[in-house]
Amino acid sequence: MKKITVIGAGIMGHGIAQVFALAGFPVHIYDLTKDKLTNAMTAISINLDLYVNNELISSEEKELALGKIQFTRNLEESLAGSSFVIEAIPEDLQLKWDLYRTLESICAQDVIIASNTSAIPLTKLIQHSIHPERFIIAHFLNPAPLVPLVEVIKHKNTSDYVADTTMSLLKKAGKTPIFLKKEIKGFVVNRIQAALLREALALIDNGVVDAQDMDQIIKDGPGFRWAFIGPMETVDYGGLDTWKRIFDHLFPDLNNGQSAPKHINDLVDANKLGAKTGEGIYSYQDTPINDLLTERDLNFLRLLHMKTKKMAKN
Ligand SMILES: NC(=O)c1ccc[n+]([C@@H]2O[C@H](COP(=O)([O-])OP(=O)(O)OC[C@H]3O[C@@H](n4cnc5c(N)ncnc54)[C@H](O)[C@@H]3O)[C@@H](O)[C@H]2O)c1
Repeated sequence: MKKITVIGAGIMGHGIAQVFALAGFPVHIYDLTKDKLTNAMTAISINLDLYVNNELISSEEKELALGKIQFTRNLEESLAGSSFVIEAIPEDLQLKWDLYRTLESICAQDVIIASNTSAIPLTKLIQHSIHPERFIIAHFLNPAPLVPLVEVIKHKNTSDYVADTTMSLLKKAGKTPIFLKKEIKGFVVNRIQAALLREALALIDNGVVDAQDMDQIIKDGPGFRWAFIGPMETVDYGGLDTWKRIFDHLFPDLNNGQSAPKHINDLVDANKLGAKTGEGIYSYQDTPINDLLTERDLNFLRLLHMKTKKMAKN
């Protein structure tokens, strides 16, 4: 792998660039405005400081990683000599189609183009492409540098070379790529999260628990277990006869709403969109969101260290 190009320096793009740079790959990150690139540079530097402060990397390694990343508003420059391009531009199909048309007019035929889309099927993404065999989805989760999983989805036209190279690149970058055997709406992660959220929001709306207690239940109950044993292991350990009775008893009672619940619709209508507007399910008026995000990242780092046993003891 000669060089990696990340298109879009937003929430996901800057994190993805950091992942590859830390793994030693030269990275070019391209965005439309200088502001976006400056913000990305600052965010990566702050992220890496967190690693240094937690003894995951040395300050020399931080500087080395930063030195691997070039920030540019020149698309041709960002693509020159690159063999893997990953886009993390907004989730707008037309925007992505326009970008792919331009990329295909610049990149050699063997350059891999990956999308970090959270939901658009690859079949749709490649609808107008000249070389559909080079396209693949590599779905990183936010924050990209800390969450190990990357869902990888290929289309029937995606070549085996592209699929194998993407999987091996992600492994080299320290990620846990999981290859989905079928292209499916929402992939796996968002289907599971949506299924859980549908029931959780229904329980809140029915007055069984409030949002805070619901979060505590997940963090101290299923979530606590899931960091180390998955739900399939959980049911095996609990006993399938027991779980069969739970399924038969509960499935008919579970929420099967077909659209976003009223609770969420009301908040969206009132422009209470969560942390970014200062209020959503919770209020963020009194706590700077950056403090919350730093605390989140610190906890994710600790968990990552525990899971990978990479960190020196504090
Ligand atoms: N935010 C998340 O939690 C998350 C998680 C997983 C996947 N994703 C997916 O990742 C992609 C990016 O999401 P995000 O949250 O980072 O968005 P974002 O809005 O934070 O960043 C998008 C960036 O792309 C830039 N951009 C727009 N058009 C461009 C173009 N034509 N060329 C180059 N840059 C362009 C914007 O200036 C912006 O900096 C989306 O497909 C999204 O669905 C997001």
